[in-house]
Amino acid sequence: MREEGLLATAQTPDEIEAEIGLRPKRLDEFVGQEDLKERLSILIEAASARGESVDHLLFSGPPGLGKTSLAAIVANEMGASFRSTSGPALDRPGDLAAVITNLDHGDVLFIDEIHRLPRQVEEVMYPAMEDGQLDIVVGKGPAARSIKIDLPAFTLVGATTRVGRVAPPLRDRFGYLARLDYYGATELAAIVARSAHLLDTQATPDGCDTIAKRSRGTPRIANRLLRRVRDFATVRANGLVDAETADAALELFEVDRAGLDKVDRAILAAIIEKFGGGPVGLSTLAIAVGEDQETVEDAYEPFLILEGLIQRTPRGRIATQRAFAHLGIEPPGDDGQGRLIPPP
Ligand SMILES: Nc1ncnc2c1ncn2[C@@H]1O[C@H](COP(=O)(O)OP(=O)(O)O)[C@@H](O)[C@H]1O
Ligand SMILES: [Mg+2]
Repeated sequence: MREEGLLATAQTPDEIEAEIGLRPKRLDEFVGQEDLKERLSILIEAASARGESVDHLLFSGPPGLGKTSLAAIVANEMGASFRSTSGPALDRPGDLAAVITNLDHGDVLFIDEIHRLPRQVEEVMYPAMEDGQLDIVVGKGPAARSIKIDLPAFTLVGATTRVGRVAPPLRDRFGYLARLDYYGATELAAIVARSAHLLDTQATPDGCDTIAKRSRGTPRIANRLLRRVRDFATVRANGLVDAETADAALELFEVDRAGLDKVDRAILAAIIEKFGGGPVGLSTLAIAVGEDQETVEDAYEPFLILEGLIQRTPRGRIATQRAFAHLGIEPPGDDGQGRLIPPP
């Protein structure tokens, strides 16, 4: 298996385990996203006051920003059970029927990667969301008949990294759509401090800041970097996570000062060195760096774009002047009309 970058958004089973302990359980433990939290707390309080379940919710945003955590928080705050599945796991309408007929009154059903729900499963979802009814066909051929089952009230929480790929009829059936945004350094530092405390690790405010600044706006990455810095502090220092230890650890793990890891730098280097600064198509670029197209597009590019290191153009990806500067490569000149002239 290929080595995962430290900033990768894919998770190993060990990490999933490690994350469970760090997951905020209540809305007031969830750091940042203040507007979203306020709106959710209103939905939750209003539903509780009426003795109803919360309206269906759709959370979108890049991986690691807290979609799954928030879904579980909604269940906790409602005193309801949390049932979790994913779009790709619900292969056939029968799979959804099995999950959904097992729900108890008020349960939160979480469907991760809901944009990957197959079309015919989606169609079963519509009446379930709208009328609390399951419409399924049982049997085959002349014996086939359609049956309707009344469902207990439930809250569907969908999560997606690709809100544009959620079919509009499905999207329209959610009562509230929320987009999670990248976190600021102050919020990330607070998340690192909270996690350090939960891990029984001493961390100074500077140490938390150092980690926060290199976490590319993403809590999951902040927690992962904290665990690596903590390992380093245990083995090479006195266990204290301060700025100096954090710097040394992150250097060792090849996370640079802008928070870019090996794969990010490989992407920039490929665009610049192999494709003359671009434009280069996504599929070609993904092959050049040995990653999946979807990983490059969902996990790496958003941050590189946010940082102004690459741009997406209709003809492909291009590296900006900043990207050249970041890699310490002399950028090509421009032709006086804003167009880049590649070096000879
Ligand atoms: N706002 C937050 N406050 C504290 N920790 C958070 C927050 N958002 C995410 N995390 C941490 O990051 C990890 C990843 O979050 P998760 O909910 O799994 O993200 P997503 O489902 O969007 O990929 C969680 O285990 C949690 O420890
Ligand atoms: Mg998730």
